[in-house]
This record gives sequence, C-alpha cells and structure tokens, in this order.
Amino acid sequence: MAFITVDSVSKEFKVEVKQRGVIGKLRSLVRPHIVTRQAVRHISFSVEEGEIIGYLGPNGAGKSTMIKMLCGIMHPSSGHIQVNGCIPYKERRKFSMTIGVVFGQRSQLWWDLPAIDSLELYKDIYKVSSTSYKRSLNEFNELLDLHEFAHTPVRQLSLGQRMRMELAAAMLHHPQILFLDEPTIGLDIMVKEKIRDFILQWNKQRKTTVILTTHDVIDIERLCNRILIINSGEMAFDGSAKELEQLYTKEKQIIVTFKEAIDWLPPLLHATVQWREGNQICFAVERSEDVQEVIKRIVNSYEVTDIQIRGADLESIIKQVYQTGKRDDVHEVVYSHFS
Ligand SMILES: Nc1ncnc2c1ncn2[C@@H]1O[C@H](COP(=O)(O)OP(=O)(O)OP(=O)(O)O)[C@@H](O)[C@H]1O
Ligand SMILES: [Mg+2]
Repeated sequence: MAFITVDSVSKEFKVEVKQRGVIGKLRSLVRPHIVTRQAVRHISFSVEEGEIIGYLGPNGAGKSTMIKMLCGIMHPSSGHIQVNGCIPYKERRKFSMTIGVVFGQRSQLWWDLPAIDSLELYKDIYKVSSTSYKRSLNEFNELLDLHEFAHTPVRQLSLGQRMRMELAAAMLHHPQILFLDEPTIGLDIMVKEKIRDFILQWNKQRKTTVILTTHDVIDIERLCNRILIINSGEMAFDGSAKELEQLYTKEKQIIVTFKEAIDWLPPLLHATVQWREGNQICFAVERSEDVQEVIKRIVNSYEVTDIQIRGADLESIIKQVYQTGKRDDVHEVVYSHFS
C-alpha cells in the first residue's frame, strides 16, 4: 500500500440556488431550489513517502476540497482515502499528530496573541518536549527569521510574516506529511523563496511528504517532483514537469543570429523557417531530438553569433491542459420545483 492512496474519490455539495426578486425569495422559502455541485469526480492517485506533489488546477477545479479530504476536515461522498495507514476523517486525533497543514487563505494562529504564544500553545497541543521545541525554534529562526516579529500580535503581522509563522506552527511537531493550500499566495519574491527553501530543506532532511496547491509556476518548477492537474474535478494529468512538457510541446524554436544577413538558405532537414528579421532567422523544429542536428548543420556552414532555443514555457503548457480538460456541466440540477 502506498503512503497516500486516493481511490476513486468524489465529493459533491448540495447548495441552494437563491431566487431573484421578492417573489423569488418567497418561493425559495417555501420550495428551495437545490442543486448538486460536483467538486471532485472519481479522482485516483497514490503518493510515495518523500514526494513533493503539485496539485494544480484552475479556480474551482476542486483542489482545496481534495486537500480538506486528505487532512480529514471533510469526508468524501464516495471512494476511499488512506494516508499513512489512517483514514483521515475517521481517526482525526491520531491522524492530526502526523500531518501539518497550512491554508494560505486562512490562519491557524491565535489572532490576539503575540505570534510566539501560538507556537507555545501548539507545543502543548502536540505534546512537544521542551528540548525539541527549542531546537525547532532555532531551526525556524534560521530559515524563516521568526525572531523579527515573534512578539508582535498576530493581527498586526504582515501577510509574509504571518505565513512564515503558520509554517512554523504546522511543522512544530515534525509531521511526516505537509499539506499546503496556496502557501505563497500574495507574498513577495523574497518571502516566497524563504518558504520554498524551508519546504525543500524539510523534505530533504526528514523525507517529509508534501502536497501543495499553487497558481505560481515558480513554486512548481522549484519544488515539485510530480504534478497532478485537475480540471472540473477530474484528473487531467499525472506525471513530472518534463513529461508534461514532452506531451504538450509540439515544436521547438531555434533563433539563430548570423554574423551577416543571409539571403538564401538551402532547405534544412527537420527544420522550417518561421520568420527572419535582419541577421536573425527563427527555425521551427518539430521533434526536440532533432534540435542538435539542425544546430550542427547551421554552425558548420555559417558564421553564427548567437543561438537561442525556445520551447513552450510551463505556464503556457499548463494553460493548454486547463483549456482542453474543461467541462461545462459542473453544476447538475438534482431537485427543482421550478424547472
Ligand atoms: N463548502 C462548500 N459548499 C458548496 N460548494 C463548495 C464548497 N466548497 C467548495 N465548493 C465548490 O466546489 C468547487 C471546487 O471548489 P474548491 O475550493 O475545491 O476549488 P479550488 O480548486 O481550490 O479553487 P481555487 O483555485 O479558486 O482555490 C467550486 O465549484 C466551489 O464553489
Ligand atoms: Mg482553493
């Protein structure tokens, strides 16, 4: 059995659709219009210990819903989840000792207390020994510079300061698994880097398994060994960034700057001219295996001052997956007196 197993998990929410106008409101009181919202549809995947998984998808794809099910806050409508030998929503107390959770949009700290007091409270909740607490605080300080704002009340912390505190609170008991739902949202580049380094260091030193959702491509490039892309609640891709690139990048561009403008070029095997401008010519090559051969032929015959190779960037590839896997029937009416 894998470290984390998600087997054909679905989650649906029943929500009331509010009617417009006074008459609509009265109707809603008497006969509410209920629809089922399918947030997660038959998702299956497994994760091995020590992996860092990027759980991606457009807004409303069902990422936060899956994270909530994985950490036991919500239970699935159908299917099975097992994390580190536990069924998360059934064994919440035991399970919570093994996981750390950070929601970028929600705080787990005590709003009115100095930030450090929240850590002290978590120390007691998780029964962390004083020696281990001191050692962890030193490590957090080194990686996240907590001492700069440790005695400031949480409500006065900036977003970047609070997120660093949230991460420290989530890792105080050294959980084996860390769930992060948009941990870098709204943060400046420096704080993002600190948080990424922190995650990488814990993963490397302690084999902490990480599942994170993010809309930041740099988070994905820097952190994730594997990417899962969800669209309209369904799995659209499971693999590495490299595999994703190979699957979706149709061609590479080679932009060559010649020493002098070239009037005529003999046809090149595997490459077609896309555009020319001054001394520059852009060649399109369909298969990345052919790039080296094309470059060799050009530099053997001409004087070249610069060569740039461009493939599709990760962001545009992910955009393609989002566009191809989209479905429009996310909301299904199950019960209505007015339809
Ligand atoms: N408690 C809830 N009650 C009703 N519908 C919900 C609830 N939570 C989520 N949903 C719906 O489920 C769908 C998936 O929501 P979810 O928050 O999981 O998306 P997400 O992928 O995290 O999006 P984002 O990138 O915007 O954070 C959405 O259509 C959302 O409106
Ligand atoms: Mg979300």
